[in-house]
Amino acid sequence: MNSPISIIMEKKVTEAIQFRRSVRIFKSDLALDDEKVKQCIANAVLAPTSSNLQLWEFYQITNPTLLKKMTTACLGQNAAKTAQQLVVIVARKDLWRKRAKANVAFLKLQYGTKEKAEYTKRETFALNYYQKLIPSIYIDFLGILGALKYVVFQCIGFFKPIYRQVRNSDMRIVAHKSAGLAAQNFMTSMAAIGYDTCPMEGSDTKMVKSILKLPTGAEINMVVACGIREETGIYGPRFRVPFEEVYQKLD
Ligand SMILES: Cc1cc2nc3c(=O)[nH]c(=O)nc-3n(C[C@H](O)[C@H](O)[C@H](O)COP(=O)(O)O)c2cc1C
Repeated sequence: MNSPISIIMEKKVTEAIQFRRSVRIFKSDLALDDEKVKQCIANAVLAPTSSNLQLWEFYQITNPTLLKKMTTACLGQNAAKTAQQLVVIVARKDLWRKRAKANVAFLKLQYGTKEKAEYTKRETFALNYYQKLIPSIYIDFLGILGALKYVVFQCIGFFKPIYRQVRNSDMRIVAHKSAGLAAQNFMTSMAAIGYDTCPMEGSDTKMVKSILKLPTGAEINMVVACGIREETGIYGPRFRVPFEEVYQKLD
């Protein structure tokens, strides 16, 4: 049985970001502490999320049988094959109603028991945001309503600035963006405690969904392999295109 490695000290943010590499081969004799990994997932949910809808879910897989099945679903990639654990980040656009309701409940709790007329302007705006605006953006029917909304919003956009991302495909991107931020929070947190990761989108997502028993509306954002790096598990020096090529300062 592998024993969890002891963690001495957390790295600072920049140190953790620099430490993190995509590791494809993990040590087979060093296990991770389940609770520490869970804590890193708890950090993941502190990532910013569009409209605070938190359209995500996280699955921590430690079960050997499931890990084996997941390796197949991850197309036999070394990172999955040698991982001590896998964390699957799932985008749940389909949960928007539930999450909007949760936000409304949270807001009402903050505002205290009040008659509708007693809400301040800001409170009414926040409640309307989740009760009216979010449904108007997220409600769709086979993509048809979204396409219609898109045309209408583009027309309004000729006259004034307007939010244009209202199609089903746009809302999927919105959910995946936030899930990606959570994934990065997770990997940075893991790096901070000396744990390694490899994000993977190379997987048979249908198979992953079936292993996790996820509903049709759920989408796999990425599978993150977790473990302790073998030095041979980093396939080469870090490569980034020159910073000047991707950075512009607009004075
Ligand atoms: C969304 C996403 C998907 C990725 N999918 C895979 C993958 O399927 N397999 C893999 O080995 N690496 C995967 N990577 C890792 C990238 O190849 C890696 O981040 C890149 O080469 C830069 O290396 P670094 O992470 O060590 O800085 C993925 C990274 C991201 C962000």
